[in-house]
Amino acid sequence: MKRIALLTRDNAGINAGIRAVVRTASHHGIEVLGFKRGYQGLIDNDFVELGTRSVSGIINRGGSILKAARCKEFQTKEGIERAVSTLKRNNCDGLIVIGGNGSLSGANELYKNYGIDVIGVPSTIDNDVNGVSMTIGADTAVNVALDALDKLRDTAHSMERVFVVEVMGRDCGYIAMQVALAGGCEEVVVPERVFDINTICRDIEEGHESGKKSWIVIVAEGKARAYDVSESIRTCTGLETRELVLGHIQRGGKPTAYDRILATRLCSYAVELLRQGQSGLCVGLKSDNLVSLPLFEAIKAKDLHTEEFYKLVRTMT
Ligand code: F6P
Repeated sequence: MKRIALLTRDNAGINAGIRAVVRTASHHGIEVLGFKRGYQGLIDNDFVELGTRSVSGIINRGGSILKAARCKEFQTKEGIERAVSTLKRNNCDGLIVIGGNGSLSGANELYKNYGIDVIGVPSTIDNDVNGVSMTIGADTAVNVALDALDKLRDTAHSMERVFVVEVMGRDCGYIAMQVALAGGCEEVVVPERVFDINTICRDIEEGHESGKKSWIVIVAEGKARAYDVSESIRTCTGLETRELVLGHIQRGGKPTAYDRILATRLCSYAVELLRQGQSGLCVGLKSDNLVSLPLFEAIKAKDLHTEEFYKLVRTMT
């Protein structure tokens, strides 16, 4: 194995992963081509050669030095074929894809239908990759959201207000559940559960009557919008409410120690698997052990066990 290709999505911890791929590969005398803007870079043959020194000073930086993009063209046969021909033209012996479900589905397609040797590394703030306990970036995202919530709690408490906070998670309530529990929030609305706005309003009213004056309701963006929920609570209870949409700050920021270590372990392991001639796999951690599973398993829906978390959130209210 002489040369491998690398592409990424964007979230905290990815740069630590890029560094680990490059330094593990260099250690074995393998060159790394870093393709820019994810699959778009493969389609456009847009890459940089990454050597050991070119990844200095990035372990603590959020985002991706390779940049990232959503690539519609890669969803077409023509786009995929151009990506495959780029890999062949540049004599890449393997490909490492660091990203979430969309990126890993693309990796599976390249492996299954085009015979590309590929290893996926799960990285998304949503932590919704099946079969692995944590994805790169999720821990940082939860901590970024939690930091904002702690500040909000101060004013919610002083002003005795109801706040509705929208966190990221298009199809999944991972961040919402984590921050609700860690932030001592009173209610949480996630895509995995049916919710009834009237029950939430009744709880708030009853709480208010019994002396509980401030509430923080977390909603995952995939299930409801903060402004709608806030408006409903205001209309139904007559209480003063405010809204906050945390948005993309959750994908940025300095990666936590957990994410840097996770990224380093997983990405180094991805290089080792390619060297061993393995392919079509997604790496991950299970009970803190390095594991690999077929990419097609990794992209199946994940059960986040939200029910247990939800019960705890409500019990702690
Ligand atoms: O999949 C990760 C994620 O950050 C989701 O939580 C969010 O819904 C989505 O990406 C946002 O996508 P975009 O950055 O394209 O708006």
